[in-house]
Amino acid sequence: MTKKEIIKKTEEFAKKKLNGEGSGHDWWHAYRVWQMAKAIGKQEKVDLFIVELAALLHDLADHKVVGDEEQGLEIIKKWLAGLGVSADDIKKVTDVVENISYRKTFGQKVSLSAEAMVVQDADRLEATGAIGIARNFAYGGSKGIEMYNPREKSKKFKNIEQYKKNVSTSINHFYEKNLLLKDLMNTKMAKKIARKRHDFMLRYLDQFYKEWDGKN
Ligand code: NI
Repeated sequence: MTKKEIIKKTEEFAKKKLNGEGSGHDWWHAYRVWQMAKAIGKQEKVDLFIVELAALLHDLADHKVVGDEEQGLEIIKKWLAGLGVSADDIKKVTDVVENISYRKTFGQKVSLSAEAMVVQDADRLEATGAIGIARNFAYGGSKGIEMYNPREKSKKFKNIEQYKKNVSTSINHFYEKNLLLKDLMNTKMAKKIARKRHDFMLRYLDQFYKEWDGKN
């Protein structure tokens, strides 16, 4: 099988696995991460085959999507082995998937492969800009979280346990995550995109507060 065919088959596989996922990690999220990772990857010295596979599969081992991360990784390994991907390449793909999550790298610098940096940036960009705003509210809705509550202040978290336990509002989530991302990008291209999208989110929030208080 050619690399192109492997990617095509993996696209179908990810689509089937993630279809209808309701918390913002559905197939179309994977699709966007894939497209963005390709665009960033073209500017970097990376193996695009690894980047594309990892982008497509990156959420299949996420605890929000599958119950158990280990099990998710096993599914990915089996899938790629079944397509004849080399053990070496499978390891590179699963390394990316394992190491890029926001929770995993929370508050600490994990050393990542060049491919992982690209996919991590593409995934993090999903929590910025217009899509980031939409996903924030979609996720909040799926968890029954309030959109906004002026009495609830946003928090700063010292560790991942605090972050995980936190039940906040969707608006607070901007300050607790989305607006922190522009300083966490790895690649030059993602930094540039993140800055632009950051400003867009600030403009959005400004308008939101105006409307909340009966202004236009
Ligand atoms: Ni993701």
